[in-house]
Amino acid sequence: MNAQEFKRRRRRLMQMMDNDSVAILPTAPVRIRNRDAEYPFRPDSDFYYLTGFPEPEAVAVLVPGREHGEYILFCRENDPEMETWNGTRAGQEGAVDQYFADDSFPIDDIDDILPGLLENKERVFYTMGTLPDFDQRLIGWVNRLRKQSRAGIHTPGEFVALDHFVHDMRLYKSSAEIKAMRQAAKISSKAHIRAMQACKPGMMEYQLEADLLHTFMYGGARSPAYSSIVGSGANGCILHYIENTAKMKDGDLVLIDAGAEYDCYAADISRTFPVNGQYSRCQRALYEIVLQAQYAAIEQVKPGNHWNDPHEAAVKVITQGLKDLGILKGSIKNLLKNESYKPYYMHRTGHWLGMDVHDVGDYKVETEWRVLEPGMVLTVEPGLYIAGGHKGVAKKWWDIGIRIEDDVLVTKDGCEVLTADVPKEPDEIETLMAS
Ligand code: GLY
Ligand code: MN
Ligand code: MN
Repeated sequence: MNAQEFKRRRRRLMQMMDNDSVAILPTAPVRIRNRDAEYPFRPDSDFYYLTGFPEPEAVAVLVPGREHGEYILFCRENDPEMETWNGTRAGQEGAVDQYFADDSFPIDDIDDILPGLLENKERVFYTMGTLPDFDQRLIGWVNRLRKQSRAGIHTPGEFVALDHFVHDMRLYKSSAEIKAMRQAAKISSKAHIRAMQACKPGMMEYQLEADLLHTFMYGGARSPAYSSIVGSGANGCILHYIENTAKMKDGDLVLIDAGAEYDCYAADISRTFPVNGQYSRCQRALYEIVLQAQYAAIEQVKPGNHWNDPHEAAVKVITQGLKDLGILKGSIKNLLKNESYKPYYMHRTGHWLGMDVHDVGDYKVETEWRVLEPGMVLTVEPGLYIAGGHKGVAKKWWDIGIRIEDDVLVTKDGCEVLTADVPKEPDEIETLMAS
């Protein structure tokens, strides 16, 4: 993503603010894994969306109309010794030259400088509640100004939820963002194909996870976008199963839900295939229902349709399918009215996708489901989960968990499936696994 793109975003946000306001965005903290070992740093999505700045310990401040520059970046100072240990830093010069801040100050000076930027402003745009420590510091800065009121200094009187504005911007992907998402999708698709090719009875679930992660990293995606799910047999019925420690058995299905993060953009793909390369009759019957539900849902992804249309389409196909197999009994009308599918399909058909796997953006506008528009990206991921011991369901259906998930971009005339490279037709999967 080039610097102009980030600049455009800052300008758009500042157009929505007034000249008497300030926006403050801290990046994510470095998180400790154990003792002094840290997790790999990942910037806060809103911060990165507006700055492209990849280092920890940074705060962006936007002051529309400020004479000495509207975009101020607080970040770490250059420090040759620390940089020898932990890697290079942009420093104040780099913040200006490489990241196009108008002005940059050392992060250690923020307590002295930031209150001055709030002086005589009316509104502070800030996302409260995600970083409690930073919330407290901000309150401290505001309180310091309050104490100077007799010196004629005006303290901002209003806090505005910044996330509301940034998240609406993030919902509409630019062509540069779509390019990054295509790359995340491409790398993730390769990983799923490799896992299908590698799978054999007797392997451990984590060995398939290793194949996924290898492909992600090898392709330049240094992290999965979320913890990979590799659930075989009964584990496929645990929606967020991430232990991935079981041995995969001949005759079981394995459900993989995994996606790479590329340049801070996520892919999110699920496929379900037979450990031994061939679906059993029962597995295939349920699989076909999920697949047809997914096709029906994807068909509903087009401009002008509502957020909920794909889900409703999927639920109809699943309900009819379960009735045809004798798992549900009664009229379709009543089964739909009573949501009788819910014991077997308990999640929704998708979510927004972007920098965060469950991406930001409202799903409803007041009381109405959001209307789909070009540039939005969502997942379509119906499933069926029949855990062992399910009363009233014949034993032959037990321990079958299936999810099929693709990433779908709303286009001008319909949609484009970004993850179409991974086979999902059962015959195609069997052919790939046999090759
Ligand atoms: N991987 C999480 C989800 O599918 O929503
Ligand atoms: Mn998903
Ligand atoms: Mn998923």
